Amino acid sequence: MKKKILVTGGTGYIGSHTVVELQNAGYEVVIVDDLSNSNADVLDGIEKITGIRPVFVELDCNNKEGLNKLFLDNPGIKGIIHFAASKAVGESVQKPLLYYRNNIVTLLNLLELMPVHGVEGIVFSSSCTVYGQPDILPVTEDAPIKPALSPYGNTKQINEEIIRDTIYAGTPFKSIILRYFNPIGAHPSAEIGELPNGVPQNLVPFLTQTAIGIRQELSVFGDDYDTPDGSCIRDYINVVDLAKAHVIAVERMLENKSEEKLEIFNLGTGRGVSVLELINAFEKGTGVKVPYKIVGRREGDIEKVWADPDRANNVLGWTAKESVEDTIVTVWKWQLKLRERGIQ
Ligand code: NAD
Ligand code: WQD
Repeated sequence: MKKKILVTGGTGYIGSHTVVELQNAGYEVVIVDDLSNSNADVLDGIEKITGIRPVFVELDCNNKEGLNKLFLDNPGIKGIIHFAASKAVGESVQKPLLYYRNNIVTLLNLLELMPVHGVEGIVFSSSCTVYGQPDILPVTEDAPIKPALSPYGNTKQINEEIIRDTIYAGTPFKSIILRYFNPIGAHPSAEIGELPNGVPQNLVPFLTQTAIGIRQELSVFGDDYDTPDGSCIRDYINVVDLAKAHVIAVERMLENKSEEKLEIFNLGTGRGVSVLELINAFEKGTGVKVPYKIVGRREGDIEKVWADPDRANNVLGWTAKESVEDTIVTVWKWQLKLRERGIQ
C-alpha cells in the first residue's frame, strides 16, 4: 500500500474519479465531504469499480476542529488533494460571501493543519478561469492572470496566491496547482459521473439532459463570435484523464521527483472545440438528436480558450488520451444509467 491521501470533496464529480484512480494505483484514501453537492451513494460506485470502499468522513472543511480530529483519527496522511469548493459561477455572483468563506476558509484550515500533522504536500484544483480571455492561444501557465469575472473565479486566484505565499514563506510542504480546462465525461463503467443539482449551468449536462428529454431544448449561447462557426471554443478534457493527472501529481510531490516546492500545470488536451462541434460529436457518437436553438451571448462568457499542455506533457509526464468524440459517449451512457436508477 502506498501513502495515505486525504481527498477533500472526494464524493464530488472530479473527486470521485480521482479516488478511483488513486485506489487503482495503490494509494489509501480518506475522503472528507459535507455532501453539499454530492451524494454518499457515490461510495458504492467507487467500491464497485475498485473493490475498495474508501474511508469516508462527512464533515464541512470550514470546521477546523473537526478537520483536526480527522487527522488524529486517521494518522499517517501524507498528501491532500483539495477539491472541496463551491463551483457555480452564477451563484457566486448572487452569494459572494458564501463562496469566499467556503472556498477560502477551507484552504486556510488545511494549510494550517498540514504542518501540525506532518502532511507533505497539497494538490489544488484551480481553473483556466484564472486566464480570462487570454491574449495568446493556446494559453501557457505563464500567461497573465486576468481580473476575475466572478467571485468564484476570484476565489481560485486568491487560493493560488495563498498557496504561493505560504510555500514561499518556507512552510515544510510542497504544492502542485492544477488548472483544469473544461472537464467532461464519466467513468467508462457508468458507475460514477457528474450529478448536477437542479438545472445544469454547464454545457454537457444540459446537452445530455436535453437529449434524454428532461430539458426541451439546448440554448447555444451565441453564434456571432470570432470563431470558425461563430460559437465559443473550449478545451474539453476527459474526467478520467484529469483524474490520472492527480495521481501523477501526488507521486511527483510526495516522492520528491521535483526540486520545486510549488508547480503549476495546465490540464487540457490542447484542442479547441466549439459548442456546435460538440453537439455534432454527440449526435454522431450516440445517434441521438439534440434539439437546440441559437440564442444571444451569455454574459461573461469567454470567446475562446484552449490549453497549451506542453508543461504537463513534458514535465509532469501526463497527456490527455481520450478524444472529445469518445468522451461524449461516456456521458450519454451515464445519463442512461441515471434514468435506469430513476435519478434524472
Ligand atoms: P463538485 O461540486 O462535484 O465537487 C466538490 C465536492 O466538494 C462536492 O462533493 C461537495 O459536496 C464538496 N464540498 C463543497 N464544499 C465543502 C466543504 N466546505 N466541506 C466539505 N466538502 C465540501 O465539483 P467538481 O466539478 O468535482 O469540482 C472539484 C474542484 O475542481 C472544485 O474545486 C472546482 O472549483 C474545481 N474545478 C472544477 C471544474 C469543473 O468544470 N467541474 C473546472 C475547474 C476547476
Ligand atoms: C461551455 C460553453 C457556453 C451552456 C465554466 C466556468 C469555469 C469552469 C468550467 C470551474 C460556453 C456554452 C453552455 C448552455 C451553451 N469551472 N453553453 N449553452 O463557461 O467554459 O466554464 O465551467 O472552474 O470556471 O466558468 O463552461 O460548460 O458553462 O460552457 O451554449 O446551456 O458552452 O457559452 O461557450 P465554461 P460551460
